Amino acid sequence: MKIAILGTGYVGLSTGVCLGVIGHDVTCIDINEQKIKQLNRGISPIYEPELEKLLTENIDAGRLHFTTAHQKAIAESEVIIVAVGTPQGDDGAADLTYLHQAAKDIAANIKENTIVVIKSTVPIGTNDSIKALIEDLCGFPIKLVSNPEFLRQGSAIYDTLHAERIVIGSDQQDASEKICKMYEPFNVPIMITSIRSAEMIKYAANAFLATKISYINEMANLCEMVGANVEEVAMGMGKDHRIGSAFLQAGIGYGGSCFPKDVKALVHTAGKYGFDIPLLKETMKVNENQRVRLLKKALHRFRDVNGRKIVILGLAFKPETDDMREAPSITIAEGLIKLGAEVVAYDPVAADNARKIIGDKIKYAESIDEAVTGADAVMIVTEWKVFKELELKEMVTKMKHPIIFDGRNCYLEEKVRACKNIEYYPIGKPPIIQ
Ligand code: UGA
Repeated sequence: MKIAILGTGYVGLSTGVCLGVIGHDVTCIDINEQKIKQLNRGISPIYEPELEKLLTENIDAGRLHFTTAHQKAIAESEVIIVAVGTPQGDDGAADLTYLHQAAKDIAANIKENTIVVIKSTVPIGTNDSIKALIEDLCGFPIKLVSNPEFLRQGSAIYDTLHAERIVIGSDQQDASEKICKMYEPFNVPIMITSIRSAEMIKYAANAFLATKISYINEMANLCEMVGANVEEVAMGMGKDHRIGSAFLQAGIGYGGSCFPKDVKALVHTAGKYGFDIPLLKETMKVNENQRVRLLKKALHRFRDVNGRKIVILGLAFKPETDDMREAPSITIAEGLIKLGAEVVAYDPVAADNARKIIGDKIKYAESIDEAVTGADAVMIVTEWKVFKELELKEMVTKMKHPIIFDGRNCYLEEKVRACKNIEYYPIGKPPIIQ
């Protein structure tokens, strides 16, 4: 099938590459010429495992093209996938500027019988209004499908190729059938729903997962008080298949470009109908409090961190990505600076992006060794594999004080206990001091 994709962010690129893998002829469109030039050379603007390898393979096989010339690509495609960003607006609602621009570009070039697939996360009701807008501008009825995305950053390619479900929301049978066919080679479960249900599934799923995280974080905080271990608690809970073990990892809160924005947008949508969702408001509040958990632990331990060298290991909002959007590390770094600490951070890939947000108020080390040497304490903020595999015994010898605040519970008790001289403060588990 000949497919055009508008938007070359995580969703657009991963979808484009994976549709190429299953043999479709895909053209990805973006307005940024520099980005398109790089993509045509197989260079990805984002860090995502497997992405560059598949980019090159599909470009070389002639199944993947990148262009700024949206007119031609739209006019020549049977399916147009919209994967532009819908960032958070000032009022908590999704900002639809890019989506409206995409709709105008499509309307100006679309041929009859082409199917428009909206992948961008959009407030409930938006697909209908985008369909009406395009039809209004192009002057003939179009076919539109809502097809929300469930991939995670850091495993975007894997999640696209091995999706647990593909949701196709449409009230036009021929359109949903064609999109089913497009996805068929992925060989994953496909469900067809109404447009509104498809839109709602995306928000309801993300808000549920965010709530699950806030729930386990609150349990972790209580575990610390009653002397229980949140990992054992989560495992015991997760064995009940009605609960499930995924997304019960306690830590310092959820971040990224999706959960924070989508929970807020859902609350905002409800508000438009005069409906309040206190549960989701609490989910957000708990998440904000959780982000300062390590700061509170440090203050409890030191009383005052003024002048102390505190090291942040991990800046990205989660491992295997360089994305800094809503990363807990931002709140932690800024909190430490406010308290007068000398902050040094290390991240395997996110330092450049972090610098754009946090600036030069903190130092960015080139290696873990450089960061931790002479440190009063280390805070583990992102659970990168390199941090999990650290030789703690060796690391603490380089520090001024062998104090670790682990915001992601990276280590087994035996590994920590193997250090003869350590103070280890995890989340939701008893500290180890020896
Ligand atoms: C999330 C959803 O998982 C995807 O299904 C969805 O498609 C995507 O949003 C989106 O809407 O586009 P993503 O934000 O990439 O994906 O990352 P997740 O792996 O879900 O992690 C989000 C945050 O939750 C991270 O900060 C992570 O550290 C945190 N988290 C996750 C926890 O604190 N505990 C957990 O048990 C799981």
